Amino acid sequence: MNMDEVKSALDEKLKSIKTTKELEALKLEYLGKKGVLNQIFSKMTGLSPDERKEYGAKANLLKRELEEMISEYAERINNYRPSEYEDLYKSLPGKKPDIGHIHIITQAIREIVDIFVPLGFTRVRYPEVEWEYFAFEALNMPETHPARDDWETFFIDVPADKKLGKMVLTPHTSSGQVREMLKGKPPIRMLNISRCGRRQMDVSHAPSFYQFEGLVVDEGINTTHLIGVLDYFAKNFFGPDRKIRIRPYDFRFTEPSFEVDIDCGICHGKGCKVCKGGWLELGGAGMVHPYVLTSGGVDSEKYSGFAFGWGVERTYMMKTGTQIDDIRYLFANDLRFLEQF
Ligand code: PHE
Repeated sequence: MNMDEVKSALDEKLKSIKTTKELEALKLEYLGKKGVLNQIFSKMTGLSPDERKEYGAKANLLKRELEEMISEYAERINNYRPSEYEDLYKSLPGKKPDIGHIHIITQAIREIVDIFVPLGFTRVRYPEVEWEYFAFEALNMPETHPARDDWETFFIDVPADKKLGKMVLTPHTSSGQVREMLKGKPPIRMLNISRCGRRQMDVSHAPSFYQFEGLVVDEGINTTHLIGVLDYFAKNFFGPDRKIRIRPYDFRFTEPSFEVDIDCGICHGKGCKVCKGGWLELGGAGMVHPYVLTSGGVDSEKYSGFAFGWGVERTYMMKTGTQIDDIRYLFANDLRFLEQF
C-alpha cells in the first residue's frame, strides 16, 4: 500500500465507526506497534541515504495526518447523539417561562390604598431609617420614658444627631405623623405605608414588617370619625361578616387611645395558635395628643385629629380565606407558598 492509499483507506474506515471502542481498535491497526504506519517505516531499511531522507519526511508527515484524522474523529464521537434522539429532541415541547406576580404584601398594600383613597387620604411614605426624635420624642415619649421599650427598637451604629438623637430603624409609621404635619397645614388626610423594624420574631411577629398609618387633622375631628373610618375599612377589607372591637388602651401620643381587634379569620373566634383567644390585635388608634399636634406646629386649640397604625401583614393574614398561620412565610421567598396568592 502506498502512502496515499493509506490515508484514503483510513478515511473510508472512519466513516463506518460509531463507538470509541471501534475507534481504539482502528487506532491500533494504523498507529500501533505492528500497525500500518510502522510497516511503512520499516521499509526504510532497504533505501539509499538520499531516498531514505525523502521517504522519512513523507512518512512522518503521514503519521501526523493519521493522528490528526483519528483525534478529530474521536471528538466527533464524543459529541455524537444517535439520530433517533435528535428527532426526539426536536419534537419535545418547549419550556414555558414562569410568569410571576406581585408579592402578596404589595397586593395587600394596593388593596389598602384603594380603600382609603376614595375617603380622601393621600398615600405617602417616610424613611425606613428614622431619628429618635420623630419616632419617640415628638410623640410625647421623652428620652428616658419607659413606654419606648414597647417598640423594641433597632439602633443604627452611627453618631447621634444633637437635636434629633440616635438613628433607628423606623419602629412604627407613627413617626410620619409629625413629619406630615410639618409639611403643610391642616386639613391633613395621610395614609403612610412604610417598612418598620423591631426586635421580635414568632408566628405573628417578624423583625421587618409593614405598617399603614392613617392620620386625619382638621377642625372638629372627634372619636366618631375615627370609629367610622375603622369600621368602613374593616367592612371593605375583611368583608361584611367580620367583626372588629375596640378596647381602651394607652399610647403616649393619643388620648384617648384604643386597641383595635378583628375576630380571627383562621378559627373564627374559637381560639388557635395565631390568635390565642379568638381575636387578633390589628394595632393601635386614638385621638392625636395635643403634645403631638404642637410638635407638628399645629394649633391644638383649633384643630384635633385621629390616628391609627396597623400591621399590613397581620391585617392581610386575618382576611377570610388566606389561612396563613405563620407571618414568616411571607418573607421566606418560597415559591410553593407565594404561588398560591
Ligand atoms: N404606632 C402604634 C404602634 O406601632 C400604633 C398607633 C398608631 C397607635 C396611631 C395610635 C395611633 O403600635
